[in-house]
Amino acid sequence: TYVVTDNCIACKYTDCVEVCPVDCFYEGENTLVIHPDECIDCGVCEPECPADAIRPDTEPEMEKWVEFNRKYSELWPVILEKKDPLPGAEEKDGEPNKLEKYFS
Ligand code: SF4
Ligand code: F3S
Repeated sequence: TYVVTDNCIACKYTDCVEVCPVDCFYEGENTLVIHPDECIDCGVCEPECPADAIRPDTEPEMEKWVEFNRKYSELWPVILEKKDPLPGAEEKDGEPNKLEKYFS
């Protein structure tokens, strides 16, 4: 599976949702997640993210993000269309510790 990681938080560009063939992105207030059981591992969303926030779970230390994506994809509504990024997305792109700083 692919997962959405830290750098999506407070940016939420949403380019990713346009290309997913199985519509498995879910939307929270300041980030998106991928449903790990619905993702077919096609990889097309990864290069679409301007914040480089989408990673394959084969990378090191991804367990935390798989669990994060799984948890919130069960709670949040599906998102099917691109929308405007969050205000200040460009300035916040690349900030460290966005989960601790912005996610509640
Ligand atoms: Fe959707 Fe493919 Fe990205 Fe998985 S890897 S979330 S199926 S676009
Ligand atoms: Fe987030 Fe990147 Fe999609 S910032 S909303 S994962 S395009």
